Amino acid sequence: MKVLAIETSCDDTSLAIVEYNGKTFEEIQMIGYSQIADHQDRGGVVPELASRLHSEKILQVLAHLDKEEVNSVDAICVTAFPGLAGSLMVWLTVGEMLSNFLQKPLVKVNHIYWHIFSMLLGRSIEDIQYPLALLTASGGHNDIYVINHDEADKRHFSMQKLGQSIDDAAGEAFDKVSRMLGWPYPGGAWIGQQALSGEPSADLRFKRAYLDVESYDFSFSWMKSQVYNLLSKLERAWAKLTPSMISNIAYEFQEAMVEILSKKLYRAASSFDAKTIAIVGGVSANKRLFEYLNQLCQESWFDWQILKPTKMVYSMDNAAMIGVAGIIQYLKEEI
Ligand code: KG4
Ligand code: ZN
Repeated sequence: MKVLAIETSCDDTSLAIVEYNGKTFEEIQMIGYSQIADHQDRGGVVPELASRLHSEKILQVLAHLDKEEVNSVDAICVTAFPGLAGSLMVWLTVGEMLSNFLQKPLVKVNHIYWHIFSMLLGRSIEDIQYPLALLTASGGHNDIYVINHDEADKRHFSMQKLGQSIDDAAGEAFDKVSRMLGWPYPGGAWIGQQALSGEPSADLRFKRAYLDVESYDFSFSWMKSQVYNLLSKLERAWAKLTPSMISNIAYEFQEAMVEILSKKLYRAASSFDAKTIAIVGGVSANKRLFEYLNQLCQESWFDWQILKPTKMVYSMDNAAMIGVAGIIQYLKEEI
């Protein structure tokens, strides 16, 4: 099965052709326009500007896709929700127009599902052993799921959501903290970069917010407030933060975030007898998170398979993973 997938839910206008051969999901082509530079000096995504840019760029991006591939798709897959309202209107128009023109069904996929199924991109459906304990961490959501699939038909999945952030998502906390430290948007990758030259510092150590709470929920607004309070205190004492202080704060903040995310996921995996652990969403691009999670699991008796998306681009919002989730949804509904 081959689909054309469209992503315009936030600040990326991305289109992809994705194919499923009964075992693996492969990206045939993906083309996009990133709006990051357009929003950067405004400190975050401006909804009105985002939808205007999506409508300007989407047909240009479409024109770059291979025409033969587009003409031979079996369905059009789009983001259904959540997302910025004006931006979602763009897929509604373009997706429905293409669906009518090509006489192919329109499959509407939930944003969270496409992050979840992004771990299948570039992998065989047989490669993953279940139950799977999965963390989706990005700018807009932060959840832990335990996922099983039907032994008789491996395209069928059941999902149980164990917990979520009670306030900010992890990526949102990375973005807000980077802004406090002087970097515009988005901030996750920048914090990771800064942390590389940072050093551990007992004076800057942050409390691991919500880690000792029994549930699988998170509170990253609490992490952000700790950084804010620390900065106010330091600024009163030093007047200006030095680059090494900024790197050390980034280091300590990142350590606290990866410890909380990893330990909650680890606990979910052991409680639900998971065979695989996976991280998806923008924050799964954080190298220290994957490293910390691996260390944590190596120290245990469990022989878990630990996965993240096969390419860094598949951690971020992109059209290819909408294609995977769309194919899974379409095949399930068809049966
Ligand atoms: O999944 P995504 O592209 O969009 C949403 O669905 O939100 O995730 C974007 C988020 C941003 O908050 C960004 O700061 C964060 O992912 N992010 C990172 C890293 N790269 C992106 N967070 C931590 N470390 C990174 N290396
Ligand atoms: Zn996302």
